[in-house]
Amino acid sequence: MQKQSRLEGKVALITGAASGIGEETVRLFAQNGAYIVAVDLQDDLGHQLIASIASDRITYRHCDVRDEDQVQETVNFTLEKHGRIDILFSNAGILGSLSGILDLDLKDFDNTIATNVRGVAATMKHAARAMVARKTRGSIICTTSVAATMGGTGPHNYTTSKHALLGLMRSACSELGGYGIRVNSVSPYGVATPLSCKPFNLDPVEVEASSSEHANLKGVVLKARHVAEAALFLASDESAYVSGHNLVVDGGFTVVNGSFSSKAYVHV
Ligand SMILES: NC(=O)c1ccc[n+]([C@@H]2O[C@H](COP(=O)([O-])OP(=O)(O)OC[C@H]3O[C@@H](n4cnc5c(N)ncnc54)[C@H](O)[C@@H]3O)[C@@H](O)[C@H]2O)c1
Repeated sequence: MQKQSRLEGKVALITGAASGIGEETVRLFAQNGAYIVAVDLQDDLGHQLIASIASDRITYRHCDVRDEDQVQETVNFTLEKHGRIDILFSNAGILGSLSGILDLDLKDFDNTIATNVRGVAATMKHAARAMVARKTRGSIICTTSVAATMGGTGPHNYTTSKHALLGLMRSACSELGGYGIRVNSVSPYGVATPLSCKPFNLDPVEVEASSSEHANLKGVVLKARHVAEAALFLASDESAYVSGHNLVVDGGFTVVNGSFSSKAYVHV
């Protein structure tokens, strides 16, 4: 098989890297020649991931994105090790509590915002500072969700956080474009990961069946790899003039109202 190297020599910092979409992105970026600092809270999984890839270009490091000091230390570590940051994939996220608005768990609300919004803001802040100081025309990507543009696809705390994250992505884009730094997001529909399986006691096959049933696009099962491929495009020079874009990976879910589409066409 021909070796891919769409990120050859680039330095990527990836959060939420030990599981699901982040893990798949670490593998894909590694296949494409990136130097990677992978961070997460789940240290055992993180170390297992690095061992399974067995490349001296990849390092695992513990970092809780809710803690700005840890984020700053992680960025400093990356700079000391590799001298620059070309790509930030700010992907760490949690689903949070499933409570309804009438029973809203505000402690969980704060924690979900602290992880999904504040955590991304902190990583953007420190990675962008490093890029600006070194005149790196970098790429910042965060992971939003179909819940960033629609209601009813996730719990309230989660939906609120992802709408806010989309605003943060666009707002940061408006400032960082002046430094040649691109800011985009990937916006997946339901992917079978611990985040989507565990809270609902579903196994991966059930999550995939549900996504496939409701997506407009048939014949493809959404996998973490599809989201990683979208992140790879946004990280690479192939998207050199793409900024402020929310790249949906949802099989048409957010743009097609399924309650009408099946009745709108006469097939002859
Ligand atoms: N799975 C889906 O259906 C889906 C759909 C849309 C968006 N997303 C988003 O994709 C991203 C990745 O989620 P996933 O589905 O791969 O889930 P996942 O649970 O497999 O991975 C998320 C990772 O983030 C880490 N994390 C959580 N809080 C953290 C913190 N404070 N600091 C550092 N790391 C932390 C977790 O330990 C975990 O390894 C999230 O932002 C999620 O909201 C997922």
